[in-house]
Amino acid sequence: MAISISGLRKRFGQTDVLRGLELEITKGELVALLGPSGSGKTTLLKIIAGLEWPDTGRLEVDGENWLELAAQDRRIGFVFQHYALFPHMSVRDNLAFGLTVRPRAQRPGKAVIAAKVQELLHFLQITHLADRFPGQLSGGQRQRVALGRALAIEPKLLLLDEPFGALDAAIRRDLRRWLRGVHEATGSTTIFVTHDQEEAFELADRVVVMGEGRIEQIGHADTIHDHPASPFVARFMGATVELPVTLQAGRPEAAGLDLQALARRALPDGPATLFVRPEDIRPVPDSAAPWRIESRMSNGAHLRLVLRHATGAEAEADIPRRAVQAEALAPGASVRLRVEAGAIFPAERQGTAATTVSQPILKLESSK
Ligand SMILES: Nc1ncnc2c1ncn2[C@@H]1O[C@H](COP(=O)(O)OP(=O)(O)OP(=O)(O)O)[C@@H](O)[C@H]1O
Ligand SMILES: [Mg+2]
Repeated sequence: MAISISGLRKRFGQTDVLRGLELEITKGELVALLGPSGSGKTTLLKIIAGLEWPDTGRLEVDGENWLELAAQDRRIGFVFQHYALFPHMSVRDNLAFGLTVRPRAQRPGKAVIAAKVQELLHFLQITHLADRFPGQLSGGQRQRVALGRALAIEPKLLLLDEPFGALDAAIRRDLRRWLRGVHEATGSTTIFVTHDQEEAFELADRVVVMGEGRIEQIGHADTIHDHPASPFVARFMGATVELPVTLQAGRPEAAGLDLQALARRALPDGPATLFVRPEDIRPVPDSAAPWRIESRMSNGAHLRLVLRHATGAEAEADIPRRAVQAEALAPGASVRLRVEAGAIFPAERQGTAATTVSQPILKLESSK
């Protein structure tokens, strides 16, 4: 199913929850909605499912206006954020549920439902669990059953709201790979909500980054990682170090920073902010530089250095422990910071919320 969303707005009381969304999803695509808590992901999913209605905007699916369709007419499989299997029903009955509650005219016969459930059990690799009750399953097994229940009605559109939320990392990775397989085997269009970056990027064809009711960026993993479209996306993608710089003739400059690795671009002069990931900062011993190493911590593979500027500003650097000459980067040492990659945006005005910052004036790439 091809989905076309435009001008979608939703308020709950005084809160703008969706502030004008534009989104096109093509048939068979797996799209991840990624964003912090409260950014409107579930609300968007519910509107698509017909469980919530927008104040204004369009939602068309294969050219049909879905805002005129009731939820039960949309043929959607939905796995909720806080899913619940029916505890008093076996796995088999949970899977059959969506088919048995259909209106009589559309309801398949008992034998057809039983065969369908058998096929699903096999497909989900949970045949051996068919007669157990939800309370007798592990978290990962329950997630599979929840997905199976959504798939039972052969949805043309599968909506998954953090379906792996409560599981540990290893099981999530397994289920992710498995879900990708299910998606490919069924050919359904799938929208998947997560606030886990790794999950979004590994699973999805495209990632939609949401922040405070807006779509901040739509793209592939590499583009969003290397070219964040806004300060919000830069921060969300881990560029947590913000360094004030001055743009001059196409180059960012600041005392104590070595920015040679950043490509030169045509830019207006003036104050700007450089957003950098801690792993893209290399402290270099320099007795004349204004940065000082305040503390150093190891997590085994990496050293995290907390760096303090003479003005009080703070930055952090993550460096591979083996690559470091430990004596030279000890607490107290003066260093300049070589920045390997980063994104630049015009300096945010005092008192202006991040969400009102418009387009980036440039993106910088490492010249490596
Ligand atoms: N029924 C409702 N009534 C009032 N406010 C609501 C309602 N549903 C959601 N909200 C508010 O809308 C905003 C977006 O909520 P939503 O559930 O869409 O966020 P989310 O991105 O799914 O967050 P999370 O990652 O925590 O699940 C939140 O501020 C939430 O409090
Ligand atoms: Mg949610």
